[in-house]
Amino acid sequence: MNLTQKQIYDWLIQCSQTFTREQDYLTELDTTIGDGDHGLNMNRGFQKVAEKLPTVADKDIATILKTTGMTLLSSVGGASGPLFGTFFIKAAQSTVDKDSLTVADLAELITVGTEGIVSRGRAEPNDKTMCDVWWPISEALTLASSQPLDKAITAAVAAAKQGVESTINMQARKGRASYLGERSIGHPDPGGTSVLLMIETLQQVIK
Ligand SMILES: Nc1ncnc2c1ncn2[C@@H]1O[C@H](COP(=O)(O)OP(=O)(O)O)[C@@H](O)[C@H]1O
Ligand SMILES: [Mg+2]
Repeated sequence: MNLTQKQIYDWLIQCSQTFTREQDYLTELDTTIGDGDHGLNMNRGFQKVAEKLPTVADKDIATILKTTGMTLLSSVGGASGPLFGTFFIKAAQSTVDKDSLTVADLAELITVGTEGIVSRGRAEPNDKTMCDVWWPISEALTLASSQPLDKAITAAVAAAKQGVESTINMQARKGRASYLGERSIGHPDPGGTSVLLMIETLQQVIK
């Protein structure tokens, strides 16, 4: 079973509910090692996405992803808006002409999207950023390419959880959290936590 256009659409709409529900938690994480706006940024961004997507509901996957990226880029301040925006804009390019996505296509989408984030933010492994969660997800999906979609997503969620867990002991070297130096150690990365929430939301949608 492939990931359908409708599932991608539903996923992005449901992300708006996820981020409304988790706004306070994400803000709390970002208050500890940043400036406390991450929950608000993600919630505001995905509310705009949920407003905008119905205008392209019948368009192809690439258009839906690109619209999501452009909307995040233009509506979210902070570091995370342009980074998540770039993720979806780059991801869209990997899906042009595809009516549905295999696990391998999804792995490719996330790999290419993450490369987009890196080209903008220059994060390296263990810098304590959202990339420390995107990378394990793309690795897990690539490894699970021959598995059914639900199994692959389950592996991706497990990898994302481990990724978030791994950020706890990292010292931030990018973004505002890096200003804290060693005091950034001991707390999960807010942006990485948002990535986990997005993958868990995708899992809900395909269930
Ligand atoms: N250079 C970067 N590369 C990748 N992710 C980054 C980078 N800088 C910051 N981030 C991510 O952005 C998150 C913070 O987002 P947010 O609070 O919304 O923006 P800001 O840091 O501008 O307040 C961090 O938790 C981290 O995951
Ligand atoms: Mg912040």
